[in-house]
Amino acid sequence: MSVPHPAAQRRPQPAEWTDVNLADPSVHAEFDLTEWWRRRRQENPVARHDHVPGQDGFWVVSRHADVMDAYRRPQDFGSASGNVMDTLLHGGDSSSGRMLAVSDGEQHRGVRRLVQRGFSPELLDRLGASTRAATHKLVARAVERGRCDFMKDVAAHIPIAAICELLGVADSDSEYIMKLANSALGSDVPGQTAREAQLAQSEILVYFSQHVRRLRADPGDDLLSMLTTSELDGSPLRDDVIVFNCYSLVLGGDETTRLGMVGGLLALMEHPEQWARFKSGEISVESLVEEVMRWTTPAIHVGRTALRDTELGGQQITKGDVVTLWNTSANWDERVFTNPETFDGGRRPNRHVSFGFGPHFCVGAQLGRIELSALFEALRALVAGAELTGPVGRFYSNFLSGVSSLPVELRR
Ligand code: HEM
Repeated sequence: MSVPHPAAQRRPQPAEWTDVNLADPSVHAEFDLTEWWRRRRQENPVARHDHVPGQDGFWVVSRHADVMDAYRRPQDFGSASGNVMDTLLHGGDSSSGRMLAVSDGEQHRGVRRLVQRGFSPELLDRLGASTRAATHKLVARAVERGRCDFMKDVAAHIPIAAICELLGVADSDSEYIMKLANSALGSDVPGQTAREAQLAQSEILVYFSQHVRRLRADPGDDLLSMLTTSELDGSPLRDDVIVFNCYSLVLGGDETTRLGMVGGLLALMEHPEQWARFKSGEISVESLVEEVMRWTTPAIHVGRTALRDTELGGQQITKGDVVTLWNTSANWDERVFTNPETFDGGRRPNRHVSFGFGPHFCVGAQLGRIELSALFEALRALVAGAELTGPVGRFYSNFLSGVSSLPVELRR
């Protein structure tokens, strides 16, 4: 594994230490914020972000201990108004109370119990087997072809296929759902407008409304069929709650996992000694997956709203304040991780917060880990080395971060 292409060179640090606007997607795509976050953790671990004219201010939480503290206190830091900065700064989430990630209290606990039950060990075993087989084929095809964009030709196909199987979507529709999911997040579609992204989001909702109606009449053995036949407080789960949660499973589980996959391959290419240790079996797939999750941190922050006047990390937070928890900083906190700036596939312990923590801990974490494991197993079995063949594309977002395109040559 090697990275001879100049595009892989480190990104610059921001010029000003104070003026970084964390709401600006280009800050995360174009700059290396490692040192900026280190200073934040040291000097101002729970700080106001009020310096951008015309933009509402918010709290920025950067230390692992404070991030975990806020995750653990849903009674103080709620999710119902939204769980990412963009929606919180622009009037709240319109699916509030209908989607797991943006609901609180009893409503959240009840629906979450049902969704978790849907991720049954039998279903996960089945998904694991089909994901491993499909991933092996995709990687074998990419090796045969020699050159590929690892995002477009390999990673993009894995999570969406698993999610479609999870939701009982026919194979023939999965390509359609994949296109809609790409447009809805706007990640793969150069020049796409916000309006087109909204249309794709609505189309996903319409598709799943019809799908839920079909499954109510003729349920299968997937998670979605289970939800259609479940009851909450003695009544069947409402269609809109099921449909919004399908949407959140599609969008929550697709891009995040791909970013982990592509960032994981790039990390192995940048650290040939780690690749060699992984190939030789010295590093297990399980521990590599955890380090890739820490290293890439696809979901860089989550957002919360203070539900009462409270305190966090020694700062007084006022009811209604927007509080952002920076996983990307917590995962590099030198108070918790030895040599955090070293990519160490055998790292133990590895208390990363890439899947969040507490009551909203990622409900798809196990599936995500299965998919990443399938990819690294296939790479270990089929690939001797990889080289960059063009510039690395970066993902522009203030919520998700990583590599959006990775042109590589995979060697047998
Ligand atoms: C929640 C990250 C994979 C579905 C979360 C949260 C994070 C996260 C940080 C917590 C959000 C919060 O506290 O507000 C990731 C990453 C993944 C991944 C980095 C990549 C491997 C998946 C998969 C699925 C999924 C594969 C489903 C197929 C969800 C859902 C929630 C969630 C529905 C909301 C859970 C709740 O609020 O109770 N994820 N996720 N995620 N994730 Fe994931």
